[in-house]
Amino acid sequence: MPKHIILDTDPGIDDSLAILLAIASPEIVLDGIISVHGNVSTEQTTKNALSILELAKATHVPVYKGCDLPLVKESLLSPETHGNQGLGYAQLPEPATKPQSAYGSDYLIEEIMSKPGEITLVCVGPLTNIALAIRQEPRIVENVKEVFIMGGAIQQPGNTTAQAEFNTCVDPHAAHIVFHSGMPITLTPLDVTYQCIFTKDDLNRLLKIDSPVTKFIADSTRFYMEFHDEYQGIAGCAINDPLTMALTFMPGICDYQNLVVDVDISSGVGLGNTFADFYNYEKKKPNMKVAMGVRPRVFMELFLERMEKLARGIS
Ligand code: RIB
Ligand code: CA
Repeated sequence: MPKHIILDTDPGIDDSLAILLAIASPEIVLDGIISVHGNVSTEQTTKNALSILELAKATHVPVYKGCDLPLVKESLLSPETHGNQGLGYAQLPEPATKPQSAYGSDYLIEEIMSKPGEITLVCVGPLTNIALAIRQEPRIVENVKEVFIMGGAIQQPGNTTAQAEFNTCVDPHAAHIVFHSGMPITLTPLDVTYQCIFTKDDLNRLLKIDSPVTKFIADSTRFYMEFHDEYQGIAGCAINDPLTMALTFMPGICDYQNLVVDVDISSGVGLGNTFADFYNYEKKKPNMKVAMGVRPRVFMELFLERMEKLARGIS
């Protein structure tokens, strides 16, 4: 039975790859996409989601516009990482499709409450929409089937500040609400995503297939690789969001620990930092399962195979 997924996302180069992976994977039915601020504005992430779905011939997937700003902090976007339009050097046509009229958090509540125990929520951007939905309808916590979150850096340095990962840094207050909500969370932090580097060799393998999909992947990830090289000296790019999506149907790619995880919402230098109480000094019940080990090439082979399959079907 395929998993019914709602994806909350800020496309975003790696977000776009996660959308393509979901469309290419028979283990998943992508019920809907909710856009959020993050890599670029919500106006732009909404447009990008629609454009990616058109590229993938998947315009049957509805897109719902989400929140434009973090709950408390000022907006923080990342044009240096994803480009001003959010898709690197890729130029996709203006989308012909439009977002749905319902608001993102309203759609999320409606779907989870009308299909108790059936919806898998995948979050690969700042958690603003999820926090809003929890405050609006707390019962989604026990009615959602499971929640996969790309975010945080546990023992790994941050990628936005010295300590903080982008998604939890942009909206730490939303992350705090979600992390302590009681939702059944699996967290995919930078600790594992930074071991999953998409390289030029991986891209050249995809470019053996002449398709708008492979051209998009090349044009978007070229920008992303330049960022990783310039800022972090990495030869390739960490494809954080597709790894998170893959774990929904191939959890064996990673090894997990049940941990007590928190996010710093104090006003100091640690704002947005995520940390685990590995020795559980406070004797608390673990609030999430955290992917702390990964088999990178198992994931990359899956990703490449699915992209090849998708690209062959789209000329
Ligand atoms: O820190 C990486 C995360 O922040 C990814 O989801 C990327 O798309 C950005 O949203
Ligand atoms: Ca993202």
